[in-house]
Amino acid sequence: MKYLKISKETEEIVKQMTLEEKLGMIHGGQLFQTEGVSRLGIPPLKMSDGPMGVRREFEAALWKGAGHTDDYVTYLPCNSALAATWNRKLASDMGEVLGKEARGRGKDVILAPGINIKRTPLCGRNFEYFSEDPYLTKELAVPFIQGIQKWDVAACVKHFAVNNQETERLSVDVIADDKALREIYLPAFYEAVTKGKSLTVMGAYNKVKGEFCCQSRFLLEDILRKEWGYDGVVISDWGAVHDTGLAANSQLTIEMSVTYDFDQYYMAEPLKEKIRNGEIEEQVIDEKVIRILTLMTRLHMLDGKRKAGSYNAPSHRQKALEVARESIILLKNEKKHLPMDTGGLKELLIIGENANCMHANGGGSAEIKALYEITPLMGIKTLLGGNTQVVFVPGYCREEMKEESSLNWQEDSLRNDKGKEKQAEKNTALHNKRKMLREDAVRMAKEYEHVIFIGGLNHEQDTEGNDRKDMKLPYEQDLLIREILKANSNTIVVLTGGSPVEMGSWISMAPSVLWSWYGGMEGGTALAEALFGKVNPSGKLPETFYKRHTDCSAHAMGEFPGGKTVTYKEGVFVGYRYNDTFAVSPEFCFGHGLSYTTFSYDNAKAVRAKEQTQVFCTVTNTGTVKGAETVQVYLAPLHRKKEEPVQELKGFEKVELEPGESKEICMVIEEDCKGREIRIASSSRDIRSIIKI
Ligand code: GLC
Repeated sequence: MKYLKISKETEEIVKQMTLEEKLGMIHGGQLFQTEGVSRLGIPPLKMSDGPMGVRREFEAALWKGAGHTDDYVTYLPCNSALAATWNRKLASDMGEVLGKEARGRGKDVILAPGINIKRTPLCGRNFEYFSEDPYLTKELAVPFIQGIQKWDVAACVKHFAVNNQETERLSVDVIADDKALREIYLPAFYEAVTKGKSLTVMGAYNKVKGEFCCQSRFLLEDILRKEWGYDGVVISDWGAVHDTGLAANSQLTIEMSVTYDFDQYYMAEPLKEKIRNGEIEEQVIDEKVIRILTLMTRLHMLDGKRKAGSYNAPSHRQKALEVARESIILLKNEKKHLPMDTGGLKELLIIGENANCMHANGGGSAEIKALYEITPLMGIKTLLGGNTQVVFVPGYCREEMKEESSLNWQEDSLRNDKGKEKQAEKNTALHNKRKMLREDAVRMAKEYEHVIFIGGLNHEQDTEGNDRKDMKLPYEQDLLIREILKANSNTIVVLTGGSPVEMGSWISMAPSVLWSWYGGMEGGTALAEALFGKVNPSGKLPETFYKRHTDCSAHAMGEFPGGKTVTYKEGVFVGYRYNDTFAVSPEFCFGHGLSYTTFSYDNAKAVRAKEQTQVFCTVTNTGTVKGAETVQVYLAPLHRKKEEPVQELKGFEKVELEPGESKEICMVIEEDCKGREIRIASSSRDIRSIIKI
């Protein structure tokens, strides 16, 4: 069989199988599993979402939780948070936790990580993805995948490929030139399957070059199998297959979907029909079954030597906390208002609904039934203990819960004027409620010396199936933040979210700003520790925080969200590659992140060795507290061609230093740097040394 070395036993097993048994293995027989063949000792293949933990148990054939009480799990920080740590070891450790929990929950495939490039800040699933930069994405996704698979669970790197928006995600045809595909959108997938050895890949919903990804010859045969030599299993996204013949004859292995008529899936009865009437060779099914059996062999599902795994272990929660700690980004701290001193802190005012909000159970398929979730308010109260009076006011509120209409939606819609009037009344009521909450918060901000605002986004904005229309903070938060800062100019601003927001209307008024992601079950603990200096923030932005979305190339040069097609006119100029090349200043640049201490960079040098370049630099902690710094290396062409970005990230290393301590670090650049400047930097716009070799 092409692209796969087959064991004799595997071939023997397939020979004993009936056509029905073979077909049962290549399409969903339940929402999250395929059928096994018990008479031959072949188990079903059990899958589960997602990147932030093992999703709750569903009914076999109903999009409804099964109501179990043993499916509470460790709720991990989102993959954007992991990316913000720039810590390869943490990525591997977090992958191990996810793999061990998946095994412990009896799963064979965990549908993670999502590694699509963050082409626009508006994509609803950005929180599930790593970065706008393919190098940073692969440097963290590869160890994450390897960590998962240490536990005899298959990672399922997704969504292959160019699934960079939610709008029309089920059918949009992405038109990207080969240079952009090869340099931006495919490299992380290449590394995930060749270096990460991801045992499965999930095809995306959208089209590429006119073909649906999950039945695409270009993506699955030409690229994945032929060019990359991938011999693993390809699983469709749920409902992403559209044609029996194309799917069967493609390199897709398993069709999953969202409906309950499992026998009617494209690769079920309809395929049996086509085999029976000779339209399709049974051999194409055999090849798919052999890949699945090979996967089961690799996962030790058939030899009794499989790892057991476990979930909700205390060490898993500790790891979640470590990742959350290192993901927090100190964006601004002009007057050193942070860290706040706990000594003598008698009272503290916390404003903002996100202080008291849990995020685990939102966002779409990445939702998690968390064993628990520490909110920022809980984390702060826990850290301060009873000595400080912590007062909380929401400051803003979301949309009112839409009260159930007594009429059914259709009858109701016949009176849309009534509907409109009702909606108008609601908007007024909501506006008035927010005004009251705002005035209440502002009045209190005048009365308290120490105030922290905690706002941002939630999974009403950061969610699967939805893209934001802009980067504006929802729920009139901009006005609230301005008014609070006018009332108390020392207010600390903390924002939570999975993608950047506009800050322009208040950022110059705010002396200190912290960014925290959906930080998992211990996110609130980590945030409290950063606020009060128990932890020194070391996160760096894995994506550009634009001033507004129109400063992003997908909107400035490209097309978004497009219609039936979306053309990536910006080519390779994605994220900082665009902003740096075309001098569009962001609010905060790619790779930015401050610390409670300072670092100096000295003795920069580079040594060429065949296809590699070793870059050395001595970093010193010149401040008074321990801290970690991520040194970044960008390559900049000396004679830039117009189709080249002015610089690209090619290396980084994170180093932790005691006050006064120095360490020499070495970053290996996997390419010859001839004709390019080697920039050693603390961020994409904070270049500390330049070397030419
Ligand atoms: C969803 C998502 C995918 C998820 C799958 C199963 O539609 O696109 O990421 O793993 O279906 O829930």
